[in-house]
Amino acid sequence: MATASIQIVLEQDSILSQQIANERSMVATNDDSEPAVPVGASVGGKHNVFDMFSLNGRVAVITGGARGLGYSMAEGLCAAGLSGVAILDLQSDLGERACDQLYSDFGVTAKFYRLDVRDEVAVQDAMNSVVRDLGRIDILILSAGVADIVHAEEYSPEKFRRVIDINLNGSFICAQAAGKLMIAAGRGGSIVFVGSMSGSIVNWPNPQCAYNSSKAAVIHLMKSLSAEWAKHRIRCNSISPGYMDTPLNTTFESEYFHEWKSRAPIGRLGRPDELAGCALWLASDASSYCTGTDILIDGGYTVL
Ligand SMILES: NC(=O)c1ccc[n+]([C@@H]2O[C@H](COP(=O)([O-])OP(=O)(O)OC[C@H]3O[C@@H](n4cnc5c(N)ncnc54)[C@H](O)[C@@H]3O)[C@@H](O)[C@H]2O)c1
Repeated sequence: MATASIQIVLEQDSILSQQIANERSMVATNDDSEPAVPVGASVGGKHNVFDMFSLNGRVAVITGGARGLGYSMAEGLCAAGLSGVAILDLQSDLGERACDQLYSDFGVTAKFYRLDVRDEVAVQDAMNSVVRDLGRIDILILSAGVADIVHAEEYSPEKFRRVIDINLNGSFICAQAAGKLMIAAGRGGSIVFVGSMSGSIVNWPNPQCAYNSSKAAVIHLMKSLSAEWAKHRIRCNSISPGYMDTPLNTTFESEYFHEWKSRAPIGRLGRPDELAGCALWLASDASSYCTGTDILIDGGYTVL
């Protein structure tokens, strides 16, 4: 009886080994010109999942990285072994200081480029300079953004346009400029848009129709580019935070804070470093099959 059981187990093992061998050969012959599996992964064998998060030798560009969420995501990526990081932002003092800090904390070559994301000529110049100065662009994080709190009936068209122009058009201008270089280099890449939960729900009780609309459009822009650029192995995804504890919000009335916290099941604002793990996952090969996805990080705000 016992001998029969052992025999069955051995036969099952042998069938399983054959299946794994078949899967390996299928993956290996899928496309001879491309590596079948991402760096650090293996099929059916042993691998260290942490290797898939490595950014060794890669270069990231981070718009709006002088402070807030962009800076925190820059820290997360630098810790994973970037060879270079470029911060693109309007604020020179903060941007230079951010680069000094990233170099001092992580030893990563960090360069600051001052620009307005609405200025397509300056943006393309800066992206070209990043390739010249740091060698390549593998990752783009689009964190530059602004927010207003204005009642719809009082919104001037000029003020409304400014929010759309920075958040939506600025994201497109930067994605297009980096995307062209990624396509020309032929190595693929990862673009991480920063949306907002307000792209899916309406921020409340603060009236923000321009901001909410801009973020809904950013998420759909991300999805559109993910479809167009998959053939170039450029993945596009977005992170959509809930209310986070950054300078963007401290300019608003503190009366909103209680409401914002009480509407999130987790009961507090998010810390900037609570996006860094997701940004690293999206930037790295650990997310190699993920494109066109919006990831909400909102303390549960949108489930209620
Ligand atoms: N803080 C939040 O609660 C929250 C929630 C959801 C989404 N977001 C989004 O996250 C992103 C970052 O927000 P944050 O909280 O870190 O804000 P922040 O104000 O702390 O940082 C934004 C950075 O973008 C830069 N910037 C603004 N306009 C620019 C322009 N025209 N050109 C170049 N740089 C410009 C600023 O100088 C600043 O360094 C924004 O897109 C924001 O909409 C923030």
